[in-house]
Amino acid sequence: MTHAVPKAEIHCHIEGAATPDLVRAQAAKYGVDVAAFLGERGYVWSDFTSFLAAYDAAAALFRTEEDYALLAETHLTEIAAEGAIYAEIFVSPDHAERSGIGVGAYLSGLAGGIERAKAESGIECRMIVVGIRHFGAEAVEAAARFAAGRPHELVTGFGMAGEERFGRVADYARAFDTARAAGLGITIHAGELAGADSVRDALDHLRPARIGHGARAIEDKALVERIAEEGVVLELCPGSNVALGVFADWSSHPFETMRKAGVRVTLNSDDPPHFHSSIGNEYAMAAATWGYDAAQLMHFTRTALEAAFIDEATREKLLGQLR
Ligand code: ADE
Ligand code: ZN
Repeated sequence: MTHAVPKAEIHCHIEGAATPDLVRAQAAKYGVDVAAFLGERGYVWSDFTSFLAAYDAAAALFRTEEDYALLAETHLTEIAAEGAIYAEIFVSPDHAERSGIGVGAYLSGLAGGIERAKAESGIECRMIVVGIRHFGAEAVEAAARFAAGRPHELVTGFGMAGEERFGRVADYARAFDTARAAGLGITIHAGELAGADSVRDALDHLRPARIGHGARAIEDKALVERIAEEGVVLELCPGSNVALGVFADWSSHPFETMRKAGVRVTLNSDDPPHFHSSIGNEYAMAAATWGYDAAQLMHFTRTALEAAFIDEATREKLLGQLR
């Protein structure tokens, strides 16, 4: 039933979408041993810190424009086969630099893969530049300045990922002001590893249109009401949260409670192979857990498209595909 539902996802880290098969091929190409972070059953990690280490190690195996084109094309073609018509991917200038590729080549490589996937399947994609929180405020400001320079027409948003328990949200306000002034869509990871206060701080200091995760806002009823009232869209990633132990299992995840409270919720895969998930799996698990029918699932797709960082003509075209 869920397979035929058109899907859209607005929270996925492109380096985190690298499949084990693709990473093994890259490792063979560069003569790198992956045993420390990639096993027979996929990525190997045990907590958020070791997850980030596995993520960084896989990211370091993408080094040329064509490597990034292949990464984006593979990911987007796979999710298009699951019914995705739109995807946003987080892209990280810091990870590009660490891989030794210039950020310009990084973006044009990814854009090449996006174009190839679109030609093959019709899927639309936009890129959101992220700063990495635990690299500090200056690094995040540099990422924001880069994004604000409008380095590519497919870059339409700015966000912040990384270790949410690092630093104070207010320290990053300048980066977000820079991005907002350039007309970029704004999102920030909050309420994943840290609680409701982190989400409230993000809303107060950074005025994002969307929150990455936001699931732990559930710890504060007044905050959930505020999120509903202000129409802030949550990029919820239940499979990721369950894999990382933020919630014990799918039925304990607040997705349905948030939806019933009037919050604008969306389904997303975050770093799909790390969590043995995919956007198709998120929709299927949500339907299995909370009994959603196709019309309800389509509503989540509609919300994601309404909140997408995209020009209005393309948004209308995509919304038309739901009718
Ligand atoms: N970077 C990649 N995945 C992430 C996550 N789930 N939370 C924060 N930063 C990330
Ligand atoms: Zn994320």
